[in-house]
This record gives sequence, structure tokens and C-alpha cells, in this order.
Amino acid sequence: MHVPQLLQQRFMDALSEFTDQADQYAAMIRATSDPKHGDYQANCAMPLAKHLNDGRNPREVASMLVARLELDDLCEPPEIAGPGFINLKLKESFLTTTLQQILGDERCGITQVKTDKSIVIDFSSPNVAKPMHVGHIRSTVIGDSLARTLGFLGYPIVTDNHLGDWGTQFGIIIYGYKHFGDEATVAADPVTELAKLYRIVNQLVEYQKAIKSLPRLRQAIEDAKQAVSLARIDVENADSKQQKKAKKAVSATERRLLGAEANLASAEEKISNIDQDPDLGPRAKEHDSIDTDVLEETAKLHRGDEVNLSLWNRFLPHCKDEINRMYNRLDIHFDHTLGESFYHPMLAKVTSKLEQLGLASDSDGALCVFLPEFDAPMIVRKQDGAYLYATTDLATLEYRLNEFNPAEILYVVDTRQSEHFDKLFAVADHFGLKDVKLVHVNFGTVLGEDGRPMKTRSGSLIGLESLLNDAVERAKEVVCNPERLSGFTPPMETEEQQHIAEVIGIGAIKFADLSHHRTSDYRFNLDKMVALEGNTSAYVQYSYARMQKILQNANVNDEDVAALVREHGLEFTHIAERNLVLQLLKFEEALHNVHKDYAPNHLVDYLLDTAKAYSRFNDNCHVIKAESQAIRSTRLAIVVQCKQTLAKGLNLLGIDVVSRM
Ligand code: ARG
Repeated sequence: MHVPQLLQQRFMDALSEFTDQADQYAAMIRATSDPKHGDYQANCAMPLAKHLNDGRNPREVASMLVARLELDDLCEPPEIAGPGFINLKLKESFLTTTLQQILGDERCGITQVKTDKSIVIDFSSPNVAKPMHVGHIRSTVIGDSLARTLGFLGYPIVTDNHLGDWGTQFGIIIYGYKHFGDEATVAADPVTELAKLYRIVNQLVEYQKAIKSLPRLRQAIEDAKQAVSLARIDVENADSKQQKKAKKAVSATERRLLGAEANLASAEEKISNIDQDPDLGPRAKEHDSIDTDVLEETAKLHRGDEVNLSLWNRFLPHCKDEINRMYNRLDIHFDHTLGESFYHPMLAKVTSKLEQLGLASDSDGALCVFLPEFDAPMIVRKQDGAYLYATTDLATLEYRLNEFNPAEILYVVDTRQSEHFDKLFAVADHFGLKDVKLVHVNFGTVLGEDGRPMKTRSGSLIGLESLLNDAVERAKEVVCNPERLSGFTPPMETEEQQHIAEVIGIGAIKFADLSHHRTSDYRFNLDKMVALEGNTSAYVQYSYARMQKILQNANVNDEDVAALVREHGLEFTHIAERNLVLQLLKFEEALHNVHKDYAPNHLVDYLLDTAKAYSRFNDNCHVIKAESQAIRSTRLAIVVQCKQTLAKGLNLLGIDVVSRM
């Protein structure tokens, strides 16, 4: 049930007499923010009066429209307010009939979109060979909830995890295995051992990079010092009017200097940490070209070197096992996991096609696509013959168009890759891949309490697994503490407690992530995330559990309630009932808004609003002790429908519920 669409249809019929752009005017229907103005408001009379331009003012146009509107079955007689707003209040009979219709419907009354064109969703897509970290949450969780929501609306969905399984990380573990690895240790516990090798080599690579960056960092300090002196001279020479601006410029250069000094200090610290490390120190001296050597290992792999290829074939399944463990815990699954390696054999064809089409040309030995809208070209083959991320993405795009019949392809990837996708989409246009909507569903960064990208104390990114463990543990403290547990009959066994903690903890992380508009950064705060009060998943899950409890106390199941409603009918006696039912009928709108903006936060907001409307209902309306059978069955029906909606909504965010907590 999409109430605005229903209203729009009626407006279209009335409007078509006046204009051939009826749809455009009918679209101007919004939910009101103040119930004084009804439930919905049509704002089309003002622009329509302007368009008609026949001397009638907007209020007259509004009454003319109202006279032609056939809304009797849906609304009370419309009211015209202010300059010509048309206020619409849904009839109680409409709300109760609709509630009765959708009661017990698994789709919560939501219309199925009919189309055979798919939506391809490229999400999660980590670079494997290193464990997943906090940076992988967003793509994974946003992509999954889009897949679930759009799939539920009826779009055929193809989910594809575009693994980075062919890049430098493999050069790193291959190098690590060859120099520091041990066949037996790797065989015994491959995942841990490969992660360890990755860490060692990566640290040594970073060490070499830090050493090489020293001259540049020192130069940056000199430049910044120079800038400070110049800015200070400017202050001396500035007249009183320019003083303020000149002083500001000094502060800016001083900040730049501080930044440059901090960069040097951090590089020096990195170097000295390794120097002093009894294991890494000597290794760093011995492997002083490791930064370029790992690149050579990757290049050899790409050239088909037998040894590297067989190591890659041996390591990759273990890397996949590791990430699959995370996906299972998060209850996230993919239709396809076509990593970068899958496209390797297609890259030569892609570049020659680009050449044939006259899109790519040689530039200093590299093959480049020059795009009028961009300063820098898109490089598709380097001087040394290596292909790039962009080349793979072009091959991937072509493959998806041929295989999946998509109307849309969504790339759920960090905002920092915007330029890459802007270029990719621009090239795609010239490549003749037009007939599909390509969207970079970008997102911001997860920040620590200090407002900086979230890192461990040693400066590495926080592992996803430890983050999940922390959340589960914290959830357990909040929900399964002895005081709360003492209230449960039958008592809660350890197993149930653990299950609840897992559902609440993981749900908390997903919900918090999805609650922010995806493009903004957010601060990670576990305490707030797992709280039972506030805008949290636990709050919504707790509402759900309360509804379960009411139904249990009333000793009825969903079917019993439907039967009661058939027998006694539905009747509102308190405004909180009406408000909650109206809110329940806005579910479909919320889901379409998720699609419109590719933004699951619309669904999060909807669920929070629903849980709050439920709380007001719960505070004001006795269910079991209701005054009459009709009131009781009405309230039971509301509880059943609300419970269903919250569970479904959470499920579309990838979040589970528990029947008591
Ligand atoms: N593996 C990439 C990364 O971790 C993300 C891939 C996103 N998908 C794509 N088709 N480019 O940065």
C-alpha cells in the first residue's frame, strides 16, 4: 500500500481536465508534518494557477480541483488552507479496512514491482589476503540492505562481491611465504599464518616507503618554514585593513608547518619502531628493496609465472574461507563472487576494443583514454604492460551487461573512489554501454571517538572480527545482566543469552551504520550503539519483543487475531491507534525512498518512528484489559501488524529479532 501513489492517481484523474502534465502536479503530494493539516497535503494548486494563468487564484483552482476529486472512499472531505494547500485526512474506515486486508500478509501489503530487468549490486568487495577491518563494514552492510530491500520490492537482484584477489596483497604474501614462510606452519593454520606473513611484509614495505619519503618530508618542512616567514613579512607590511587577513594567513602556514613536522615525526617513529624491533629490525636491513620486490612478485603472477600462480591457487581458498567466516556471522551472502582475477583473461580484448574505437591512445608507452571532462586520462595499460583497476572495471561492466540484463548497476564503494567511478562511467558512455543506469553508491568514513579514521593504538585499522566480538560482549552486558535476567520465566539459559547478545550486538553495528546518511562520516561509539534507549536497533528489537509478550499474554497467535477481527471488526477509540496504523501504512513509501536515494537510512528512520508510535500506543492503550471485544481485537491487530512490520523492516536491514530480551 503506497498511500501517496493512491492519492496521486485520484489527483491525476482530476487534473487531466486542466493540464496535460497531470503527473507532474499530482506528484506534489506530501505527508504533512503537523497533524492539524491532515495526513497528506497536495501543493499543486499554486503552481497550477500560475500555469493556467486565467485569472483564477490558487484557492479558486484548489476548490475547482477538490470539486472534481473522487476521494470519498479514502479521505474526509478535503480542506483548502492558506494560499491553496489541499489538506487530506484519511478516513478511519479506509485505515481499518486496509489494516484488515494486510493483516497476516507476509509482504505487509507491499505491492510487488514487476520487471525482468535486474539490479546488479557490487558490494563488500574487499582486497583479500589480509583480514577484513572496520573499513569494510560500510560497503558490506549498505550493499546487503539495498539488495534485501530492492529484492523485496520485487526487482530481480544480482549481488556480486568484486573481490580484490589479484592485486599487490598477493605479491605481499607470496614474497612473505618465499622469504619468511614455512610450509608446515602454513599448512597447519593457513589463515593465521598468511595474515601474519602479510603483516610482516607490509610493515617492511611501509618501512622502506618511510625511509624513501624522508627527503620529501624534510623538504616539505623547509617549504612550510619559508611560507611562514613570508606570511610574517606580509603581516609587517600589511595596512590596518589587511592585518586580519594577513594574520590568518600566518596561522594557516603555521598549521601547515605543524602538519609537515607531524608527518616527518610519524615517519621517523615508524622507522625507529622497526629498527628497534628484534625480529623486524635485522629483516628490514636485509630486505631493503622489498617495496619494489613485492610489486615484481605481483607482476610475475600476472605474467603467469608457474610458482607464483600455484602459490596463489593455494592461498586464495584460505583467504576466501576467512572472509566467508565473517559473511556467515553477518548473515550476508552473494550470488556471485567474481573477483578481479576472473577478468584477467578479458583485459587484452578490452584494451584493443578501446583502441579500435579510437578511444584509447598511446601516451609515453602507456595506453590512455583521454576524456574531455577530466584533466588526467584514464590509464588502461601501463608502460610495463600491466593492466589497472580501471581496465578490470571496464571488463567487469561489459561482462555484467552481457550476463545479467541489468537496468541498474550499483557500486557500493568508498567516496574516495569517486574519481575512478566518474571516469569509468564517462568511458562507459563512449564505449557504447549506455542502456543502463550506473550509480556509485558512495559512503563516508567510520571515525573513532577522536573524530579521526578509526585505528588501533598501533595505528593499524581495527579488525572486523574483534569489532564484532566487542559489540556482542557489550550487548551481553546491557541485555543479559543479572538484574534484567532475574525477570524472565522460564529463566534464560546461557545458550539463549549468547544468541540474544549476538543478535543485538551485530544488529547494533549494522543499524548504527545504516542510520547515518551514507555519504556522511560517523563516529563509532559502541555504548550508544547497543543502548536499549535512543535511536538504536536494540530499541526497535525490544519493541518487537514487547509485542510478542503481549500476544503471548493474550494467548493468541496471528491467525487467532485475524479471526477475532473478522468476528468483532475494527474500531479506533484512541488517537494513538490511528496514528500507529497510519504509520504502518507508510512502510512501502519508506522502501521506495531507500531505492530513490540508494539510502537505507530512510528505512532506519521509518522503523524508529514506528517504534516510537508504538510506544505511545502502548502507554495509552490497554490491549488485554480493553473495554470491549472490538477494541481488544483492534488493538491486537495493531500489535500483530506492527510486530510484522518491524521484523520485516529489520530483516531488510539484515538485522534479526528475538522473541524475548
Ligand atoms: N576492491 C576494491 C577496494 O577494496 C573495491 C572494489 C569495488 N568494486 C569495483 N567494481 N571497483 O578498494
